[in-house]
Amino acid sequence: MTILVLGGAGYIGSHTIYELIAEGYDVAAADNLSTGFKQALHPQARFYQLDIRDQAALNALFAQEKIAGVIHFAAFSQVGESMTDPLKYYDNNLAGTISLLKAMRQNNVNNIVFSSSAAVYGEPQTVPILEGDPTQPTNCYGETKLAMEKLMYWASQASGLRYVALRYFNACGAHPSGQIGEAHNPETHLIPLVLQAASGQRQKIAIFGNDYPTPDGTCIRDYIHVCDLAQAHILALQYLMAGGANNVFNLGSDVGFSVRQVIAAARQITGQPILAEVVAKRPGDPARLVASSAKAKQILNWQPQHSSLDEIIASAWKWHSSHPTGYVD
Ligand code: UFG
Repeated sequence: MTILVLGGAGYIGSHTIYELIAEGYDVAAADNLSTGFKQALHPQARFYQLDIRDQAALNALFAQEKIAGVIHFAAFSQVGESMTDPLKYYDNNLAGTISLLKAMRQNNVNNIVFSSSAAVYGEPQTVPILEGDPTQPTNCYGETKLAMEKLMYWASQASGLRYVALRYFNACGAHPSGQIGEAHNPETHLIPLVLQAASGQRQKIAIFGNDYPTPDGTCIRDYIHVCDLAQAHILALQYLMAGGANNVFNLGSDVGFSVRQVIAAARQITGQPILAEVVAKRPGDPARLVASSAKAKQILNWQPQHSSLDEIIASAWKWHSSHPTGYVD
């Protein structure tokens, strides 16, 4: 049984492929390598370099492979860039998904699990955040993820399509082998930046604001290990293949850590001093984002195994310290 992973050379896609192959699935991977890396691909995955907006290339892939289910990660994901170039985000994230759904319909492939985001909630009215809470994205990236969810919903009403949307909180950490990990260019995420400060690649870490209404004044986020996210995709796929209905799940550790707590944990694990400096707030950062993942635990039987802050940082450190320039030599 072949599972098609779109965006398979990206951070979460590559980790999901490692888990799929470890569990005995046959995997076809597609990626246009605009932000992904060939080196992140598992050697046993059959790789198709294509852009999902290229309908002909997608159709050819579906004709060649016998696909039982699709996991869709192929999207742009930088919040800041989505605000300065919204058309780029709508084009890739939405138009790309439309051509994917067309190819699926044409080939009678009906199960899809895809990356959504906590960004669909915007500034939460209450925490922990539940799936039924209001969705009011405060940036274009979150808006495109919400639009993808709605697109799946309406497409499913008109065909045999069934989908699971997984709303990730803060994805982080790296595969325990140290072979694959997080690599973005430019890097904007807290944990890789903190570890770059630990390895001397950057002088210090900037703390974006220290007067939020939180115990130490810095923002609180829910950090979830990428291997736990990968597991959730496989469980969601199994749920759909067993006949499960359309569904939406939050994926987080359900525990919040402040920016200062993350830096303190990184100092302890790396043994490095890690200079930090408070700078201005980043516009649009909510003070506190913490998931309730009770629904995923109950319905998918998802049990995060790697998401203590120490394990997250230790695994990320193993990757970053052995690949200081990421996948680029
Ligand atoms: N932060 C700093 N300094 C930095 C980078 C980040 O203080 O140099 C802070 C941010 O202000 C935030 C926290 O660290 O409070 C985490 O920031 P990230 O950029 O790592 O992650 P975000 O919480 O901003 O974004 C994550 C996902 C997005 C998703 C969003 C949902 O990465 O894809 O959650 O709100 F859209």
